[in-house]
Amino acid sequence: MLSHDQLLEQVNATIAAIEYPVCPEGLYEPIEYALSIGGKRIRPVMLLLAAQALGADIKKAMTAAVGLETYHNYTLLHDDLMDRADVRRGMPTVHRKWDSNTAILSGDSMLVLACQQILSTELPNVHEAMSLFVKTALEIGEGQQYDMNFETRTDVTQDEYIEMIRLKTSVLIACAAKMGAILADAPAEVADQLYKFGEQVGLAFQLQDDLLDVYGNPDVFGKRIGGDILCNKKTFLAINAFQLADDRQRAELDHWGSLTDFNEQEKIAAVTEIYNQLDIKTITSEKINYYFIEAQHTLDAVEMSEEGKQLLRDFANSLLGRDA
Ligand code: IPE
Ligand code: IPE
Ligand code: MG
Ligand code: MG
Ligand code: MG
Repeated sequence: MLSHDQLLEQVNATIAAIEYPVCPEGLYEPIEYALSIGGKRIRPVMLLLAAQALGADIKKAMTAAVGLETYHNYTLLHDDLMDRADVRRGMPTVHRKWDSNTAILSGDSMLVLACQQILSTELPNVHEAMSLFVKTALEIGEGQQYDMNFETRTDVTQDEYIEMIRLKTSVLIACAAKMGAILADAPAEVADQLYKFGEQVGLAFQLQDDLLDVYGNPDVFGKRIGGDILCNKKTFLAINAFQLADDRQRAELDHWGSLTDFNEQEKIAAVTEIYNQLDIKTITSEKINYYFIEAQHTLDAVEMSEEGKQLLRDFANSLLGRDA
């Protein structure tokens, strides 16, 4: 069986070999750009690890895996437009390098390419895999809508936040794990357990993304530090800070949240200082660990080859310590 690093290499080689139509350049060049500037490729690797552990031919599962990565990158084109983000993977985002219309249309076309790639998979149960995918894609839209709705609210609860990140982020990682099982023609119970595993990994993953958005190293993280603070995102950090703040801290958070014209560095520094005072970093790290442990328990109970399970475990562990 192949390790996650070996599978990552294969995913990257497959993506690099894709030949998009040349014309119109304005449509396909940004697609190639987005898919060639890096990324951790965790969704395709998750799909392949699950498929491999359950005995599928991973060469055949590769098209579906690449389809999920194409889809993921589509969500990023639109997400960066919505989040007013200028940098991703240390490079200009598509809407900055080109323009908003390009991010919209190249993004839309990536969604269609993703469907094509999944549908062309030569393994059993492609229809079932596609049904899972479309259900997932609709949920991600719901999550992204909640994420935007929450920008203008200050009373978002932790439960609402967890449901929002489950929808915007977890379900795709869960879909990847379950799709691997579906394509391997595994029993429904195994597929559902892997979905749950992916969901829990996904919650930890998004919490970590929120944490890195404030405390990450920009050179490694590849995105602007403080972007969530600037957009008034209701991250796990923001919600906990609101809950734990004393009157003065609360007033300061409200003040920065209400300003439309401000110095960006000042706002990031002031909000981060309140997070520091309240030790939000520790609270968030504990929550990340909680979901990772839950994920490990879920995985322990799955009936599959021990070697395949260990590779999935190693993969989840490698994400826990990530800084990008
Ligand atoms: C970014 O996903 C969007 C989130 C769900 C946090 P990744 O962190 O997987 O992004 P890349 O593909 O590795 O750049
Ligand atoms: C992104 O969440 C989720 C999706 C793209 C669906 P974020 O907005 O936190 O992701 P980053 O931080 O821009 O990668
Ligand atoms: Mg976003
Ligand atoms: Mg974003
Ligand atoms: Mg983020």
